[in-house]
Amino acid sequence: MIHIKTQVGIIGAGPSGMVLANWLRKHGIDAAIIELRSREYVEGRVRAGLVEQNTKDILKELGLDARMKKEGIVHDGVYLSFDEERVHIPFGELTGGRTITIYGQQEITKDLTDAWLQEGGELHFETRATKIVDFDTKRPKIHFEKDGEEGILECDFVAACDGFHGIGRKTLPKKSFQSYDITYPFSWLGILANVEPSTDELIYAYHENGFALHSLRSETVSRLYVQVDNDESVDNWSDDRIWSELSKRLATPGWELKEGPIVEKGITPMRSHMIDSLRSGRLLLAGDAAHIVPPTGGKGMNLAIADVKHMVDAFVAYYKTNSETLLDTYTNDALRRIWRAQDFSNFMTKLFHKQDAHGSFTYRLQKAKFDYLKVSRAYKTTIAENYVGLPFESFKN
Ligand code: APR
Ligand code: PHB
Repeated sequence: MIHIKTQVGIIGAGPSGMVLANWLRKHGIDAAIIELRSREYVEGRVRAGLVEQNTKDILKELGLDARMKKEGIVHDGVYLSFDEERVHIPFGELTGGRTITIYGQQEITKDLTDAWLQEGGELHFETRATKIVDFDTKRPKIHFEKDGEEGILECDFVAACDGFHGIGRKTLPKKSFQSYDITYPFSWLGILANVEPSTDELIYAYHENGFALHSLRSETVSRLYVQVDNDESVDNWSDDRIWSELSKRLATPGWELKEGPIVEKGITPMRSHMIDSLRSGRLLLAGDAAHIVPPTGGKGMNLAIADVKHMVDAFVAYYKTNSETLLDTYTNDALRRIWRAQDFSNFMTKLFHKQDAHGSFTYRLQKAKFDYLKVSRAYKTTIAENYVGLPFESFKN
């Protein structure tokens, strides 16, 4: 039997768990992490790569933004396209200088993991948390299994940063929360391609064949997505078919899409999921454990890290001043931003995806929104400030 003792026991070494551990260390609070997967698996998972202003500020504060500053690409705007007409939303000008950076989520996770381990942080890969107990007492415990051996991590608080499939949410007492779900009738087929991006900033596009997104990873790697049906298989999508759909859907007069070798293909379903309580006693949830947003808007990782900010504030108040006030307000402090991001992600999803026949009432409402944003600085500002992420102060009562 392995026995570990710490102050905050963290389940999950994704972005939320790793930001939490590094941030707590900065405040002199002990933490230990348990992660189901191997280090290679976690660091190799290809996911979205949009880092909003708050997240950049947090990584800077933690002194962990050096590689992102060097290798990430700052974007001061985004292109929105509808029926081949393209509009530019300038972030800085509309939000007082706030921007986003394109830098892969797994690169952030890698930077945070390296920093944590370099200074001797405790992190157990390939270790499965099996049960969380006694979270209604002052000494909760995480039961785990590592290399066939059982263990117990005893702590003051459990931070479940264990994603959608983790045990954190399943452990919350059923009657303590309500859940909310939307399953969208479409998915994204995403590709990574070794080709120079055909755009300097991201392009989100509505087209009668369906949504498309042009994102990127570097000067030589592009990341692109097309809307497909939920029951689609990548086997039905040859490289030629993907490039041909992308160039139709992203088209605008005078612009051409560069093609290149596709090195990865995958299908992601689209859903919105929420629970309205992130805490029970000394068990606190953050990130995908508590909420999923559709990827249109790139909020997933940013929201996870925003939850962690509130969690860190609560733990610091507890350990430094013995106050439980911020633990008590944790759920509501986090939920205000989460609902905002749920709304924005849903708004972007509905605006740019094909939901009904081209020319239908729904289509005309989508088009009316786009025509309005072309002429309205106010509407553009709404999109810009949500896209780069509203400052934390905006959510204070
Ligand atoms: N025991 C130990 N670890 C677990 C367990 C378990 N029982 N269950 C899940 N985990 C681990 C997973 O292997 C994963 O590495 O928890 C981690 C959760 O990490 P993420 O899924 O990356 O979740 P989070 O840190 O909240 O980050 C949210 O991820 O899915 C994206 O769009 C999302 O960008 C967002 C980000
Ligand atoms: C990505 O780069 O993978 C990405 C960017 C923006 C999104 C979703 C995904 O909205």
